Amino acid sequence: MSLMQSNYTETPSALPNVMVIFGAGGDLTRRKLVPALLHLCNARLLPDSFAVLGLGRSDMDDASFRDRMAESIRDHVGAAFDQSVWERLVARLHYMRIDIHEGAAYERLRERLSELDTRRGTEGNYLFYMAIPPSLFARVTGFLGTAGLLRETGNNWRRVVVEKPFGQDLESATALNRELHRHMDEDQIYRIDHYLGKETVQNIMVFRFANGFIEPLWNRHHIDHVQLTVAESVGVEHRGAYYEEAGALRDMISNHLLVLLGFIAMEPPNSFESGALHDEVNKVLNAIEPLSPEGVLRHAVRGQYGEGALPDSEKVMAYRSSPGVDPQSRTETFAALRLTMDNWRWAGVPFYLRTGKRLPTQHTEIAIQFKRAPTVMFKDTDVGQVDPDMLVLRIQPAEGIQMSFGAKVPGPTMRIGAVNMDFCYEDYFGNKPATGYETLIYDCMNGDATLYKHADTIEKGWEIVQLVMDVWTTLPPRDFPNYAAGTWGPKAAGDLLRNEGRQWRRIQDANLRAS
Ligand code: BG6
Repeated sequence: MSLMQSNYTETPSALPNVMVIFGAGGDLTRRKLVPALLHLCNARLLPDSFAVLGLGRSDMDDASFRDRMAESIRDHVGAAFDQSVWERLVARLHYMRIDIHEGAAYERLRERLSELDTRRGTEGNYLFYMAIPPSLFARVTGFLGTAGLLRETGNNWRRVVVEKPFGQDLESATALNRELHRHMDEDQIYRIDHYLGKETVQNIMVFRFANGFIEPLWNRHHIDHVQLTVAESVGVEHRGAYYEEAGALRDMISNHLLVLLGFIAMEPPNSFESGALHDEVNKVLNAIEPLSPEGVLRHAVRGQYGEGALPDSEKVMAYRSSPGVDPQSRTETFAALRLTMDNWRWAGVPFYLRTGKRLPTQHTEIAIQFKRAPTVMFKDTDVGQVDPDMLVLRIQPAEGIQMSFGAKVPGPTMRIGAVNMDFCYEDYFGNKPATGYETLIYDCMNGDATLYKHADTIEKGWEIVQLVMDVWTTLPPRDFPNYAAGTWGPKAAGDLLRNEGRQWRRIQDANLRAS
């Protein structure tokens, strides 16, 4: 996992390979994969012997595929766009039209790949990237297996990156694992969760375990509660059909938010080896106390946005009016949970998780609220109640860490005001654009699965949310839509904390840097 350690400098380029993208005409390829490849190319981390083979239904050739990617690349990499780097990458993009349901197509694919091997010197190493609907993962892998494209000979490797969602629930995830194992070994399967590729997510471990002053405070003796927020201002865009089946709980909590929770709550791993990290995250997931049906009613909140306006006053339609969405849809676009863990470090500390679409801003953070200090020495002063200290790990945007604590307000009387100490990544490391996919793609090309998920982690994630899904399915929501687009979700989300004398941190303040 060298990208993280070296900040890109002196990192060797990845091993020769062809990256084969199923679903090359889709959103993910344009928005994340090609921009990530461009960033890797810019950092000289792609091998000289490299090619991308995009596969899709559209009738394109190499030239038109390159044009299509060129049209959108600037939008997705912004100011980081460099024409000369793009020219290096674009010359390596190829395309093949394919009907993925047709067995014979995979014979043609094999021929095309061996032609690329000869032309590009890619040595028969193939990284198959499944940027297709999850229902097709098993089928496509089956065809690849039958065509012999997953067979490793000792001189070459074949790997498959499987996008999320991995299944729809525990049962389907287990079935998918079984299917994939029929055609390849576990070490060929790379189950991606792009939150693990985010620098700021990896930095949670560095912050906790490379700094001696944190660990003694990181437990139930000092921490009152933890808030995890993954807020998005976007709606479901063109993904209505997918989202209808998923909803916020499956789409975000079963994977991304549980990754964040795992990193915040885990014990220090013995090493940075895949197995050690994975074991510690799994211990956290196993320590989460299962929600009973009554617990779900009290500690799980769902919402769906109606029409409304974003803070920039842009008017937006209700979820139910989005393309591909049932006008009576009961799918949740907002979910919040209160989870607790039964272990020595965290017993009695609530972890509040919330995520939603069409919230006022795009913002992901973890806020750790410390217990109040005993303030007896201020009892005869004007101080009153002192705000609790809070540590905020900003995952995106304005990546950084903020500590708020009390300081004396200058003046003749004793008054305490909340002040912030703020670290911003950009100030120290510049603004290195990244999609979160760079490290993960690079790692897969080098056979490093540290930041990929193992089957049991995914299954455990499903197990946790399954308890909520079961209750929600049995009791369909009656009040949807229950929050207006551009607001912070349904009232019940606030009550989740209010009922326990707490409140969600005001995110509007979070984007303001301390001056
Ligand atoms: C994806 C979800 O996994 O993550 C999307 O399917 C969501 O619904 C996205 O928008 C959020 O990712 P990021 O990196 O923008 O926080």
